[in-house]
Formats: sequence, structure tokens, C-alpha cells
Amino acid sequence: MTKKLFIKTYGCQMNVYDSDRMTDVLAPLGYAPIETPDGADMVILNTCHIREKASEKVFSELGRLRMMKEKARDQQGRAVTIAVAGCVAQAEGAEITRRAPWVDIVVGPQTYHRLPELIAEIDPSVRKRAIDTDFPQEVKFDLLPEEHAPRGPAAFLSVQEGCDKFCAFCVVPYTRGAEYSRPAADVLAEATRLVGRGTREITLLGQNVNAYHGDDGHGSVWSLGRLIHALAEIDGLERIRYTTSHPLDMDDELIAAHGNVPQLMPYLHLPIQSGSDRVLDAMNRRHSKDVYFKVIDKLRHVRPDIAMSGDFIVGFPGESDQDFADTLALIDKVGYASAYSFKYSPRPGTPASVSDLQVPEAVKADRLEALQQLLNAQQFAFNKKTEGMRLDILVERAGGRAGQMAGRSPFMQAVNFAGSEDQIGQIIACDIIEGRQNSVTAEITSMKGVA
Ligand code: 5AD
Ligand code: SF4
Repeated sequence: MTKKLFIKTYGCQMNVYDSDRMTDVLAPLGYAPIETPDGADMVILNTCHIREKASEKVFSELGRLRMMKEKARDQQGRAVTIAVAGCVAQAEGAEITRRAPWVDIVVGPQTYHRLPELIAEIDPSVRKRAIDTDFPQEVKFDLLPEEHAPRGPAAFLSVQEGCDKFCAFCVVPYTRGAEYSRPAADVLAEATRLVGRGTREITLLGQNVNAYHGDDGHGSVWSLGRLIHALAEIDGLERIRYTTSHPLDMDDELIAAHGNVPQLMPYLHLPIQSGSDRVLDAMNRRHSKDVYFKVIDKLRHVRPDIAMSGDFIVGFPGESDQDFADTLALIDKVGYASAYSFKYSPRPGTPASVSDLQVPEAVKADRLEALQQLLNAQQFAFNKKTEGMRLDILVERAGGRAGQMAGRSPFMQAVNFAGSEDQIGQIIACDIIEGRQNSVTAEITSMKGVA
């Protein structure tokens, strides 16, 4: 009999990828995914530990799941298995079982291929739990089954995981572990399978994706630039993206790929976090803002229209008004098409969390507001600038309103236009009509010649 599986995904795209792979792992056990938790036989929370808010969300969701589990048991005599996966599971496994003893399974990001064994271990009648937060010898990618369900027109593909950079604010090196790159042949095989099942755009994922150094199977190592060239040979793969990158790993081969691989989209998420050299140093980012500017200059040289995106943290310990002003000045100079910004959140186990130079919450809030005003204005200006342009849109899904479709421009803009569901998966030339704050509207240029 089919069992119903509900996975709730928090955090980054890598978690989205992992959730799909967990679905693959559980398919042979008879689990089929559903869209809401109602009636689920198993609920997995795939969690994020990057900031305190993200972690706390998990515990409030677990409170709701407890009620659901008790109701199913008392009213229907039905057992609901509850699992916590992802980075909170990795970092706070013991805390989860203490605060939420109704959780059956705790599984980290590097061990979810073992879910079938963990499910076999738990016994609801004696409340036996299964916990697995190892950093195992074996590599999960080697043990995961092939993709089960199609991933849609735009899919993620993890090529690299973990991080060895140890920025002073970041939990990733502790939750995801050391840097690991998948062998190039595995990546190419997975990409080919995805394309064979209808995917047109692949975003290569990694916490430090441009540090990719995958075994080529012949004693050499491929960089991300080399991998992108090989992926571009796959027939039917129309678009390639990658995220997230570190400025120090933007090597010349990768930068050149932005100029000579037409499938590589003109959009790059390249976080710098702060525009102050003093703060960058305290963050252990290991580069100055000039290094960042040089990378962007080189990128714009080979791809003048490249749209830049980034991440910023305000209120890192010791950040002064002048440091913050330097960040605003950097943003002014770069001109972002989009960006993400956060108040610094002290994370357990990270060096910055024990600094006695913590910035008051109110100062962080003021700085975040000023920063977001500037970034929002830049994003709006970018979207306005594309008005009148003719851009290729990958149609991804039906939009919010009847007869409306939603897709992405090469610059990652969300695009809405009048169309029909049979266009999903096609790349269609559109004229951009109106740039808005978070999206653009468009009209199909001409249906002639569109396959
Ligand atoms: N506090 C606030 N933001 C953080 N990020 C990572 N760690 C923290 C933290 N402790 C942000 C960084 C990173 C993004 C994924 O999350 O900007 O690039
Ligand atoms: Fe975290 Fe990124 Fe720094 Fe690695 S490079 S420690 S993932 S912010």
C-alpha cells in the first residue's frame, strides 16, 4: 500500500535538493510525496541552522506535529513517523530528542541515504528512536538511488558540499562538514538523466560551489569551469547556473566560461557579506573588497550584461558606523540586480558568537533597514532597466492568475506573462513590459517558430 510522505523544506537550495533525494530514497519503500501534512504517514522536516530564527521555526513546527501525531493515534489508531533532517538535526540532535521526544528519527545531511535502515529501527510501540548524525566514511551520493520523480524544467544538482573556509559567523563547516566534490562523471550522468526527463535548466549547487574540484576518473581534477564546459555539451541542456560562490575561488577558467559558454546564464550570486576591509578581516573572509571588485571587473569584461547578486550581514561583532557606511558604498559601486541581507545572528560554536563586541539589536535593525532600502531600490532599477528588452523566458509553472504563466529570465528575474500550461518547459522569447519590485511582466514576442 502507498504510504504518504510529507517533507517540509527550510533554508537553502541544497536542502531542496536533499528533500528530493530523500523522496527518491523512500520511493522503494512505498512512500509517495504529498503537498500538505494532512493524512501523512511520515513527516520529515528538512531543517536549516544558518540563523537563530531558522532553527527556532523547527521547534514550533514540531509542537504542531505532536498534536497531529497524537490525533492520528487516538482517533484513527494510525502511527505517524516524524523525522528531523538537515542542519538542525546535525547540530542539535540531542536537544531535539530532549525538547521533542515525539520525534522518531533524527538524521543529518550526510546520512539520509540510510533512512530505510533508520525506519526499520524505530518501533512506535516502545517509542524507540533512531538517530544518525555521523559524518560517515561512505559518500551518500554513491548510495542514493537514481532520481524517481521528474524534477521539472529548472532543477538543482548538488556537485559540492561542505566548506573548509570557516568564516567566523558561519555554522556550515560544522553542520555540513568538510568540503567534498562529486566525481565529474557522476555529475554528468545525473545531469543527462535530468535532461532526459524534461529538465532544461540546471543550477549546480554547493556551499562553496566554485571551489569544486572533482575527480575526472583519469587521475586529474576538474574545476567548476571545466565541468560547466562539459555540461554545455549535453544536448537539450539549455541553461546552466551555479550557486553559491566565494570570491577567492572565482578562477580565470570560471570567469572565462561566462564569456564563452552561451548556456551559462548572465547572473551570479557572489556574496561578500561586508564592504569594510576591517570587518572582512574579522569575518575571516580572507580577501579585501578590492579582490571582489577585481573579480566583478573581469566578469563584466567577458559578460558586460551580467547581473550581480550577493549576501550581506549587518551588525557583525565590532561593525562600526563607518564600516557600515563602507558596505553601503560598496553596494552603490557594484549595483546589484538582487541581494539577500541579514542581521548577524550569533551561532553556537562559531568564533564570532563569543566576541564581546556584539552590536545592539536596535542598531542591527536600523542598519538592515537602510541596507534593504538601497538594495530594493537597486533591484527595482534593474527590473525597470529590462523594460523593452526581448528576453528568453524558461516557462516553469502556471502563475497566480488564470491564463498567467510564470518563468525566469536569463537574469533570474521572475517573469509573468499570458500563456498556457502546455508551454511549461519551453524557452520562449518575450518582450518585457513592466519592471516591478520583485518581478517583471512580459508578452510573448511571437509564437512563430517556437517548438
Ligand atoms: N548571521 C547572519 N547571517 C548569516 N549568514 C551565514 N551565517 C550567518 C549568521 N550567523 C548568511 C551569509 C551567508 C548566507 C547563506 O547566510 O550572508 O552568505
Ligand atoms: Fe559559511 Fe560560505 Fe564562509 Fe563557508 S564560505 S564558512 S559556507 S559563509
